[in-house]
Amino acid sequence: MSTRRIPSFRFQHRKPAHYLCFVMSETVFIKNIAQLKTPGPDLHDPVITLSNAGILIENGRISWVGPMEKAPVPGSAAELDATGQTVTPGLIDCHTHLVFAGDRSDEFISRTQGATYEEIAAAGGGIRTTVLKTRSASSTDLLRSARHRIRRWIQQGVTTLEIKTGYGLESESEYRLLRIIDQLKNESPIDISPTFMGAHDIPPDIDRTVWINQIIQDLIPAIAMENLAEAVDVFCEKGVYTIGESDRILAAARKAGLAIKVHADELTPIGGASLAARYQAWSADHLLCVTDQGIRDLSSSGTVAVLLPGTAFYLKKPFAPLSKLTAAGIPVALATDFNPGSCPMESLSMVMTLAALYMGMSADDCLKAVTTNAARALGRHHVTGCLLPGYRADLVIWNAPDWNHLIYHPSVNHTAAVMAQGRWIFSTGEPIECPFH
Ligand code: NIG
Ligand code: FE
Repeated sequence: MSTRRIPSFRFQHRKPAHYLCFVMSETVFIKNIAQLKTPGPDLHDPVITLSNAGILIENGRISWVGPMEKAPVPGSAAELDATGQTVTPGLIDCHTHLVFAGDRSDEFISRTQGATYEEIAAAGGGIRTTVLKTRSASSTDLLRSARHRIRRWIQQGVTTLEIKTGYGLESESEYRLLRIIDQLKNESPIDISPTFMGAHDIPPDIDRTVWINQIIQDLIPAIAMENLAEAVDVFCEKGVYTIGESDRILAAARKAGLAIKVHADELTPIGGASLAARYQAWSADHLLCVTDQGIRDLSSSGTVAVLLPGTAFYLKKPFAPLSKLTAAGIPVALATDFNPGSCPMESLSMVMTLAALYMGMSADDCLKAVTTNAARALGRHHVTGCLLPGYRADLVIWNAPDWNHLIYHPSVNHTAAVMAQGRWIFSTGEPIECPFH
């Protein structure tokens, strides 16, 4: 068995036009890992932390994990030495709006001078600005910019990524976004979970009742039939979709066999969390203004609370009430909410720093929030998000002596190498050196 470092390469991909190909042997043994961290298989299991650990990957799955002194007798595996490095499951970003055209840097600057997100939206800006730019962009340009963005997620260790539509807001434009996401899904080396969010805002040029009926009667059944989305999401918010309208849309999603996600109680407490709970949604997201009743309802629903502290930070709003949610036993995930308006931030590391500093999230809970709980928010927690035998081999080797560095020091990328579904898809090829050691 030969010991070697992962060679420097960028991306492995089914379509070499977009990613460089690099295929390792089917069996890989990563040895001498300074710290290996993984959530346990069950919801309330503590995080498992091993020092001087090893992990064996066979046929795209994890087959053994444990301390080096108990490592299985090496066979024909390619060995990698991870001395001084940390290994965790691949990260999961379970809430993004990453297919769009243009930017809203002007709105951001206005907000720094006192305008609010809600005022900008009420004056016809906000999401609608991006809708107009997205509708008039070519599919080639939308695909190119989305590919470029996805590489940023891969480079920071993300192996599962949710992407929502919602900047089309008319049938053909929403369909086009779904087809673009489908193409990204087919060509990407990571697992992409598409969500239909035709109810992201009220269209600027279609009567709201007409649009809601189109979503319910035409779009959701057709999208489900063509397998273009796994879930349906609704912006249930004052001035956007009411509880009653959201309820009708979610009922159509349920009928079509799609999973449910809700932008709930983000800016005003109108009962979005309780609605998500009633549908046993995959997730209720944002929850900046969630009420005690909403928390009680979520606690018995199995729904994941997806918190997006990057958005609270960018909107200068109070953070979601993490301690109340966890006290109620609700699983909590963290995600970026990446979009051109309320949160132009791709970094899960930065999101964890905000969660730790401003919501008091522990380092272990941060790990669960961007791995197994995020997998649960995408219906994948039996497949990915843990480094245990049988799970899909989605993992990251970090150029850091322990997991804390990802939260403590988010302004540099600690990624050394990323494995998705048993294949190495990215490596910096750099020597293992933590700047602080
Ligand atoms: O999750 N809340 C609705 N949607 C996004 C914002 C999208 C935008 O501003 O373009 C969010 O924050
Ligand atoms: Fe969002």
